[in-house]
Amino acid sequence: MQPQLASFFDPATSTISHVVYDQPGGQAAIIDPVLDYDATSGRIAHGSAGRVLDFIRQQDLSVQWILETHAHADHLSAAAWLQQQAGGRMAIGQGIAQVQQLFKGIFNLGDDFPCDGSQFDHLFADGEVFPIGRLTARAWFVPGHTPADMAYQIGDMVFVGDTLFMPDVGSARCDFPGGNAAMLYQSVQKLLSLPDDTRLLMCHDYPPPTRPIAWQSTVAEQKQHNIHLHGGISQSEFVALRQARDATLDLPQLILPAIQVNIRAGQLPAAENNGVRYLKIPLDML
Ligand SMILES: [Fe+2]
Repeated sequence: MQPQLASFFDPATSTISHVVYDQPGGQAAIIDPVLDYDATSGRIAHGSAGRVLDFIRQQDLSVQWILETHAHADHLSAAAWLQQQAGGRMAIGQGIAQVQQLFKGIFNLGDDFPCDGSQFDHLFADGEVFPIGRLTARAWFVPGHTPADMAYQIGDMVFVGDTLFMPDVGSARCDFPGGNAAMLYQSVQKLLSLPDDTRLLMCHDYPPPTRPIAWQSTVAEQKQHNIHLHGGISQSEFVALRQARDATLDLPQLILPAIQVNIRAGQLPAAENNGVRYLKIPLDML
């Protein structure tokens, strides 16, 4: 059975959220939904996730899964909000525990913040097979961008998260806490060993001015044309290139708000005694 796909581009964060489902009226997985957050005003909104929800309702889909490829640093996750609206089990890879541990110190989250991934409904092991309605999916560990990145293989498609970008953009940075360029190289080799016509679905696109937004390529296209990871580039060449580039990059604008929400599986911090929720900004930590 061929999976059905609908993809939603969020222009504010250049994120692509995906809905994969077996058939109209059937079961769906939502991958990497975005919660709108305005950093200037501190306002949360549900425009991006609302478009996903509208589609779910139009197609009469039951949400079986809300999948995160990793703890994103560039946007807040709408997983918790979408779960409230439409149900489904929130899942990420087992490596999230390591990411929670890394950031617990930075945000001084205290002993009531568990670092075992229990904020999620399910943690995938490497290679774990799971159903999406009548479809069969498989979760893969693809660490490197962060220690906990996952890819989800569903039919002839693989949702690669931030492991690969479109061939003319290359790869994601590996300089966040726990990131590792050599690990990313190994993860990409795993993905590029799949059949040439495997479709690879991106989580982001930052296109050059000469082309429109895109989010789908193939293993063959990546092997031929990826500017950082095409066939023939050695691990040491990639690591040198990646580290040199990472040294020039500013931190993502939303890294501090995003990480503290995303390691809570998209839950906002509890309200204080005045009923208001607050995010924390650690000074001089990153
Ligand atoms: Fe990311």
